[in-house]
Amino acid sequence: MFDTVNNFTFHTPTKVLFGKDAIAGLPAEMAQCGRRVLLVYGGGSIKKTGLYDTVRNLLKDFEVYELSGVEPNPRITSVREGGRLCREHNIDMVLAVGGGSVLDCSKVICDTPFYEGDPWDLVVDSSKITKALPLFTVLTLAATGSEFDSAAVITNFDTNEKIGVLHPLNFPRVSVLDPSYTLTVSKKQTAAGSADIMSHIFEQYFVDGSCMVTEGLCESVLRTVIKFAKIAYDDGSNYTARANLMWASSLACNGICQLGSDVGAWVCHAIEHELSAYYDITHGEGLALLTPVLMRYTLNDKTAERYASFARNVFGIDKADKVEAAKAGIEALEQFFASIGLPKTLRDVGITEKTHFKAMAEHACKCFPLDQAFVPLNPEQVVEILELSF
Ligand code: NZQ
Ligand code: ZN
Repeated sequence: MFDTVNNFTFHTPTKVLFGKDAIAGLPAEMAQCGRRVLLVYGGGSIKKTGLYDTVRNLLKDFEVYELSGVEPNPRITSVREGGRLCREHNIDMVLAVGGGSVLDCSKVICDTPFYEGDPWDLVVDSSKITKALPLFTVLTLAATGSEFDSAAVITNFDTNEKIGVLHPLNFPRVSVLDPSYTLTVSKKQTAAGSADIMSHIFEQYFVDGSCMVTEGLCESVLRTVIKFAKIAYDDGSNYTARANLMWASSLACNGICQLGSDVGAWVCHAIEHELSAYYDITHGEGLALLTPVLMRYTLNDKTAERYASFARNVFGIDKADKVEAAKAGIEALEQFFASIGLPKTLRDVGITEKTHFKAMAEHACKCFPLDQAFVPLNPEQVVEILELSF
């Protein structure tokens, strides 16, 4: 049913500084929280691009400690190390500079000084989060929306679990969104990030009841990504393309795009998190290969209407019959993903065995309410989707 407007409560406390050189405003914001900073970053891209030097320069009046080497699919081991540093140096605030992985890791680091047990407990049970250090972020990759949301996704390879934790205390206090920091993002990560942004929308747009205002926002974000991902993929230095992708990434995952609509079950993310937990694949690539399979698997009389709206309003497909339009939309999406080099199958991302499918399916259904999805799914059906993605 379309034209729903459900009740909702919405509050995003994050201040966004958007645009070229917006980082100049950061020291004044940070100075309100003290002097001792834990600077968190990833595997070194910020050193290659010069952003590290810019940040260190801006922080010359602060006492700065560092945690480097945060992995894509950030690990609980990095969170533990960050928490240890916060305690040891009596840190006042955390500054995360990087992609979603660095931001997510930093969010849970901010929670750890106020919890006596192992930080993994906080990921598994967000009610244990009682207080958090203030978090500042400088985003370098448009994808996850972590810069503007309260979610963090952390991986524990000891247990093969990748779990998302949401808590209002985990919103960044201030996020710097300067698209010029994303000009160096590789083609692979540009494509994966774009697929991630689109998937966040799909999770909120493929639902039973949808609010017209919100559905328009969703379609606008999708059209924006489709237009500018290809431009950024072909010419990484295109600032306008990067800027559009960056703002799209922030809007797609902070809840704005589901206000008034029914809440989705985040099916594709549920299944992808299992792939990353077992095989450490790139999040957006997993989503891209699963999405068309999932859409075809769930295409029925009810979903056809929504998939057809997507096809018509996003890809401009002109077919009167809803099933025909839906099928054409799925094909157009597949072609778009292929045009930016995204993988089509599990084998394309190096997954060559089916050994864990059953365990993955059961865990996905345990972590997400897949029995309440747009098309409810049980573990056996998730296994079938994985088989079809192989
Ligand atoms: O580690 P460095 O050296 O910085 O390199 C990174 C990394 O190798 C590189 N990179 C980042 N910015 C760059 C750059 N390379 C060149 N130039 C730049 N400007 O890109 C690689 C991938 O970085 P990563 O942070 O892992 O990517 P992304 O932003 O896509 O984050 C993915 C993680 O976020 C989670 C995913 O599951 C995954 O763990 N998610 C977080 C969400 C949230 N917080 O709301 C929601 C999402 O659905 C997602 O699950
Ligand atoms: Zn995602």
